[in-house]
Amino acid sequence: MTSLAFAASRDMNSPAALLLFVGEGGQLSEGARNLDAASQGQIGRAMKAANFTGQKGKLLEVLAPSGTAASRILLAGLGDPAKADARTFEDLGGEAAARLQTADVELVADFSGIADLAVGTDVGAAHFAHGVELRNWRFDVYRTRLKDDQRAKLAKVTLVGAPDAARPLAERLQKVAAGVHFAKELITEPGNILYPESFVERVRAKVEPLGVKVTVLDEKELKALGAGSMLGVAQGSVRPARLLAMEWNGTGNPDASPLALVGKGVTFDTGGISIKPAPGMEDMKWDMGGAGAVAGIMVALAGRKAKARVVGVCGLVENMPDGNAQRPGDIVTSMSGQTVEVLNTDAEGRLVLNDCMTWTQRTYKPMVMLDFATLTGAIIVSLAHHYAGVFSNSDELWGKLDAAGKAVNDLVWRQPLSEPGGHYDQMIDSPIADMKNLGPREGGSITAAQFLQRYVDEGVEWAHVDIAGAVWRPKGAPLHDKGATGFGVRLIDRLVADHFES
Ligand code: BES
Ligand code: MN
Ligand code: ZN
Repeated sequence: MTSLAFAASRDMNSPAALLLFVGEGGQLSEGARNLDAASQGQIGRAMKAANFTGQKGKLLEVLAPSGTAASRILLAGLGDPAKADARTFEDLGGEAAARLQTADVELVADFSGIADLAVGTDVGAAHFAHGVELRNWRFDVYRTRLKDDQRAKLAKVTLVGAPDAARPLAERLQKVAAGVHFAKELITEPGNILYPESFVERVRAKVEPLGVKVTVLDEKELKALGAGSMLGVAQGSVRPARLLAMEWNGTGNPDASPLALVGKGVTFDTGGISIKPAPGMEDMKWDMGGAGAVAGIMVALAGRKAKARVVGVCGLVENMPDGNAQRPGDIVTSMSGQTVEVLNTDAEGRLVLNDCMTWTQRTYKPMVMLDFATLTGAIIVSLAHHYAGVFSNSDELWGKLDAAGKAVNDLVWRQPLSEPGGHYDQMIDSPIADMKNLGPREGGSITAAQFLQRYVDEGVEWAHVDIAGAVWRPKGAPLHDKGATGFGVRLIDRLVADHFES
């Protein structure tokens, strides 16, 4: 974690990397103006030479003028200051962290005397620090030969001239970032390290100290409950399945109606007997991204002591081909009693989620249930990696998710869903069982969602979030490097803050 400090004014003898803000058209903040004057206009000349006019999101590194103790100067473009909002500052924090991650310096960002912004300087400063923290994450545990200049060293950020109100907000956002980082860690770990049992232990060690109640069901208990759908997926693996339930109650009322989150946790998806092609199969280590997001959300909410009751349930299995694996054509009976013809063992996520959804509704009686899953390759075809697809039986819930996503840049896009019995729903009718786990090639993400909808109880507001694309990105962005994104954690933190906290 990047440690965070606040200072009323800048320490002129500090060898830190100094970041100064510039509004579009070259409007220098007070600190930048002073430095420009003290260096006979060196800042202005450097900006001119680099065509830097304070464009939004742009960083310009300037050779530190002689006479300043600062080792590096970064100018950060705000665009039109009157439009600079929390996200503008977050992105700049992220860009600065990406730039300085392997540098052995303290980052000092000077917020004194910047032009009037779309948000208070307190909000801007806190979100700048959040951006630094989000981007300053690396997964180097298995890199034993890292050279010193490749090692992450950025460890301290000081916010100068930020109003006092920035402090509690920044601290709250640090807790949320811890949840994002935990999700990314789980998603990045390979399948030999993270499998159902080790996933449970890793998560338990993280969330129990935060006051989260953990319940774990093993295969014997799942069998007794009739979780034939989930266990059918697990039966080809030597790693036994687990259902992991986490409960955070910050309301003080043990009977408060909870928000329920369900995550697909396929710790490795080979496809099973309907085996996947070899190229790219390694990507299927992050087929537990839904469960990773749910665990990360619990870390964020418990960490910041959210005044809400939230339960997170992860369905953990490994999907393997084996002499004991389930066959295409097998018929399994789910916990709900509904039967499924398993036409393709690679459409396994829905077979895990359905039993977890049934158990969650029976156990916690939620009024609202969301599930997160790397469910279909088809959603990547539709939306690439920029948006997660949302399927919901509630316009209102969709609207809340959309707004939360826009606020934190975890973007979601609504996809179509039929009523039970409607045209998309009919596409998964089976001639021999209640439903099949596979529709035609067309509309693959929709039929997957229709399958899940058949497990939603009457009256429950539900949304399915297909994060197959959003969980992992081939290209970096200001707030994350290429790889795991931690998608979903900030989205649900925001949704809870806006609609589920008393
Ligand atoms: N885990 C995959 C979906 C996936 C694909 C996630 C690529 C992330 C990246 C899922 O279990 C799967 O295999 N889905 C199949 C469904 C098909 C057999 C109906 C798919 O998308 O091809
Ligand atoms: Mn699969
Ligand atoms: Zn899968």
